[in-house]
Amino acid sequence: MKTDLLDILCCPTCQHDLTLLDTARPTAVVLEGALGCTGCQARYPIVRGVPRFVSHDGYVGSFSYEWNKWNRVQVDSANGSRVSEEAFAHKTGFAPADLKGKWVLDVGCGAGRFLDIASRWGARTVGIDFSFAVEAAQNNVGGRDNVDVIQADVFHLPFRREVFDVIFSLGVLHHTRDTREAFLSLPRHLKEGGAIAVWLYYYTDRLYNRATDFWRRLLRPLPNRAIYAWSSFICRVFYPLYRLPAMAHAPFSLLPRVLPVNMHADWHWRVLDTFDWYSPVYQDKDCSPTRVVEWCREGGLREAELLDFPTSVRAIKDSSGTRPLFKALPDFRDKRLVIFGAGAGGQQALDRLAAIGVSHRVVGVVDNDPAKQGQRLGGHLVTAFAELRRDSYDHVIIASLHGLPAISTQLSAAGLVKARDFVASGILEEFAPLLRLASL
Ligand SMILES: C[S@@+](CC[C@H](N)C(=O)[O-])C[C@H]1O[C@@H](n2cnc3c(N)ncnc32)[C@H](O)[C@@H]1O
Ligand SMILES: [Zn+2]
Repeated sequence: MKTDLLDILCCPTCQHDLTLLDTARPTAVVLEGALGCTGCQARYPIVRGVPRFVSHDGYVGSFSYEWNKWNRVQVDSANGSRVSEEAFAHKTGFAPADLKGKWVLDVGCGAGRFLDIASRWGARTVGIDFSFAVEAAQNNVGGRDNVDVIQADVFHLPFRREVFDVIFSLGVLHHTRDTREAFLSLPRHLKEGGAIAVWLYYYTDRLYNRATDFWRRLLRPLPNRAIYAWSSFICRVFYPLYRLPAMAHAPFSLLPRVLPVNMHADWHWRVLDTFDWYSPVYQDKDCSPTRVVEWCREGGLREAELLDFPTSVRAIKDSSGTRPLFKALPDFRDKRLVIFGAGAGGQQALDRLAAIGVSHRVVGVVDNDPAKQGQRLGGHLVTAFAELRRDSYDHVIIASLHGLPAISTQLSAAGLVKARDFVASGILEEFAPLLRLASL
């Protein structure tokens, strides 16, 4: 622990100041010792450089196992890639200038892959996690001058009010007993005008969700190494199977929805994410953009931006509520629209546009599959994206869930800007409730 952390810490129970105990002489970095509360006299040990505000890992034992087993797989500076940096930029919308020199909190830091990014971008970075993932995070990045790792529970954070310029939490709050309550515990620690970014699960495929919950309930009572053995077994058997072209068609296409397996090209990453899918105690898969923006409103956060779908939201703290609730709401009513994806997803997008009365705004349908080009969908000739002139449309709606990341990259490479120029089709369902929220 770096001693400048004391400026922002307080007792999670009574909110009084903390002082350093048991350290022979004050140094800039404390590896072993304790923090004492000047109010309730509680004592919080510092073990291997990590202040511990919880005495056990509660319901997150699966994450303690996960992040110590795969402690470096997703950490860019350990694997030489930029995958986590790109995911971070994509899910938070932050660029290095937004973080440099700022106090930044990562809620649920896991093995520290995003602490790695934020600290390399020049932020004074603090990561908290309830699980013993903090051991991995501390080993990976805790030695850096601008990083601190803390073991703490999001529901009892050991921070003073309004101390962070930026708070982010990626893939965490839906793993708590109450996603909304966890989200609402964050804004009080954010400075006025500070930014918050979250990424949360939102899966609308009921079969997929029910099957996942069934397997999770079955597996959860088992020891973590048994869930690990099962995850690596299904990866070994079903990954090659799910890659067969026949799997794209019914009835085979049902199988990956009933027994999902992560499809990452790297074996370790694939087994990690499969384990991550089946092992958590809590997994709220229903964090719709509308729900998250409602929480923003409740938490005194404004200028919400929907950065991605399923749900990435960024917002600004504005307790007085003078800023608008949305920074920009994707409004399709006055746009010329192109549907990207001429399969079942494309038809569904056309139906949803019809339901909100804007199907007449569609000016084209495109698909990367040459077999679909030349066919018709909803009266539109399906073409290749490259055949479209940029001045012939305003907005692209990506209507292929599985192709979403690749198409997103393709559109960015063509100079389109996410959210401003293109969105995923799932957002169409959210359009009416979001408009209602915006008018409140
Ligand atoms: C899927 S991992 C994500 C880790 C990291 N954000 C990443 O993307 O690599 C979810 C993390 O949330 C943490 N977590 C769950 N409940 C928590 C709580 N109540 N307080 C703090 N962290 C929690 C888990 O321990 C776990 O490390
Ligand atoms: Zn206290």
